[in-house]
Amino acid sequence: MIRRSILLGTGSALPVRAVSNAELAQTVDTSDEWIVERTGIRNRHIAGDGETTATLATQAAQEALAAAGLAAQDIDLIILATATPDQTFPAAATKVQAALGIDDCVAFDVAAVCSGFLYALTVADSMIRSGAAQRALVIGSETFSRILDWDDRATCVLFGDGAGAVVLGAQESEDGQRGILAAKLHADGRHNQLLYVDGGPSTTQTVGKLRMKGQEVFRHAVVNLASVLREVMELAKLTPADIDWLVPHQANARILDATARKLKLSPDRVVVTVDRHANTSAASVPLALDVAMRDGRIKPGDLVVLEAMGGGFTWGACVLRV
Ligand code: UT7
Repeated sequence: MIRRSILLGTGSALPVRAVSNAELAQTVDTSDEWIVERTGIRNRHIAGDGETTATLATQAAQEALAAAGLAAQDIDLIILATATPDQTFPAAATKVQAALGIDDCVAFDVAAVCSGFLYALTVADSMIRSGAAQRALVIGSETFSRILDWDDRATCVLFGDGAGAVVLGAQESEDGQRGILAAKLHADGRHNQLLYVDGGPSTTQTVGKLRMKGQEVFRHAVVNLASVLREVMELAKLTPADIDWLVPHQANARILDATARKLKLSPDRVVVTVDRHANTSAASVPLALDVAMRDGRIKPGDLVVLEAMGGGFTWGACVLRV
């Protein structure tokens, strides 16, 4: 028998306030035209008073649990991917645990920035397959609006807030055809200075602001994503022609196009939400996955490939049969 992590449900949450490019252009020296042409972004959501990484994560988790038909108490593992936790410690995952009313489970955060959800999913999958967990909540949640330098037009127009969650459950079968079939992660810490936050508890004792050399990140993203996608498809003994849906990290529509072209994947097989959510870092992949599950594009039996790349650099990909 083969033990796999099966996708049981998805959920997502967005802050109430939506901010269009035109609204942003009232306070930032930018234009709707520039943002759409360079990034594909038209809209983003910005957290307001009372909306935090943990509250958004809790909402997304509740939706995912409802979709899975499970109660919070059925969960024995929560992994929350975030670079913008409510507090330096304890982990935001423990706030979500308390908000869901779970008395005891394993709960921790993962910090891999935009690749955080892929990292969290891979760790959860390993724990499920080893028998250390049975049912896991894997969440990506971010409030990047709170670490943006609103005077830096090259970065502040690119990001948004939100959360996405999935419930994974252990399942044993003869053929092992469903669930997470393969995952591959990478990191290369030499590129710290291309995408980072200029503060932290152990250095400046401040939270800091996001800094990015956009063009260089772009270049690395296209190369690394195409390469890890090939790697993970090989691990799963599949080819890009087998992919029903690519659910990529939503950083820039041009990166999505370039990645699809490199894989010779038709653009209508790529789930795109960057236009409405902007870049929500660790939340972007589970948010896009939830959108495509709920609107019926992704159906049971579909082969779905997830990928992301971000600060560190970190990057990774995962092949999943829904
Ligand atoms: O999630 C982690 C992964 N992150 C990414 O993957 C981000 C990757 N990078 C990118 O998506 C792109 O590099 C950006 C969207 C960040 C920038 O696009 P670009 O085509 O590389 O533009 P650029 O940085 O080369 O800037 C071009 C011009 C500059 O003006 P000059 O020097 O040519 O006169 C900028 O000052 O655009 C100017 N510019 C803006 N103009 C209007 C930069 N930001 C803005 C802005 N509005 N918001």
